Amino acid sequence: MIVYATKYGSTSEYAEALARHLGVAAIRADEAVGLTGEEPYYVLGSPIYAFSVLPAMERFIEEQKQRLASRPLAAFVVCGDTLWNPRKGEGGWKNLRKLTRLLPREPFASAVFGGRMRMEELDAVDAPRIRAFYRQIGREPTGFDRMELGRVAEFSEDIRRELEKLRHPPREAAP
Ligand SMILES: Cc1cc2nc3c(=O)[nH]c(=O)nc-3n(C[C@H](O)[C@H](O)[C@H](O)COP(=O)(O)O)c2cc1C
Repeated sequence: MIVYATKYGSTSEYAEALARHLGVAAIRADEAVGLTGEEPYYVLGSPIYAFSVLPAMERFIEEQKQRLASRPLAAFVVCGDTLWNPRKGEGGWKNLRKLTRLLPREPFASAVFGGRMRMEELDAVDAPRIRAFYRQIGREPTGFDRMELGRVAEFSEDIRRELEKLRHPPREAAP
């Protein structure tokens, strides 16, 4: 099962595309609280807002911690800054850590996807924040579209391959 959080819909596009590839359901984190079914595995996805995952995802993980600890987990984040920069501890690497550090176990697969921000869509809380941010860096608040739904196929293949390995771990080499 895929559980995701979203504010403006870009993360749900990734979650729905992944659900189609994997043939599983995608459900919103705020609707998944109180979930009682046993799923063979979970894929958790959240956008990054102000260097954090959305509160709905945090709440879901907190509430379902025990169940999540006993199941294979995969994780993805959707964000503006996707640059993979583990040495500096920045960029997409840092954004992914914001989700994975909340999990009760290491994910068996993970991904960072580019998101989208449309200025005209932002609500009364986000619009002034984003305008202030752009002012600070001396740029016009133009928004961006870094959606890369084409990469979902590759992520779903990763998930399938890793799940297969978990189901059939390689045998010890004969002496
Ligand atoms: C108020 C606000 C804060 C954001 N903060 C970050 C951030 O800290 N780091 C980042 O990489 N992207 C940031 N973004 C970009 C979002 O992660 C991106 O727009 C994402 O696609 C939104 O997902 P959603 O459409 O599923 O809500 C921010 C966007 C907004 C509107």
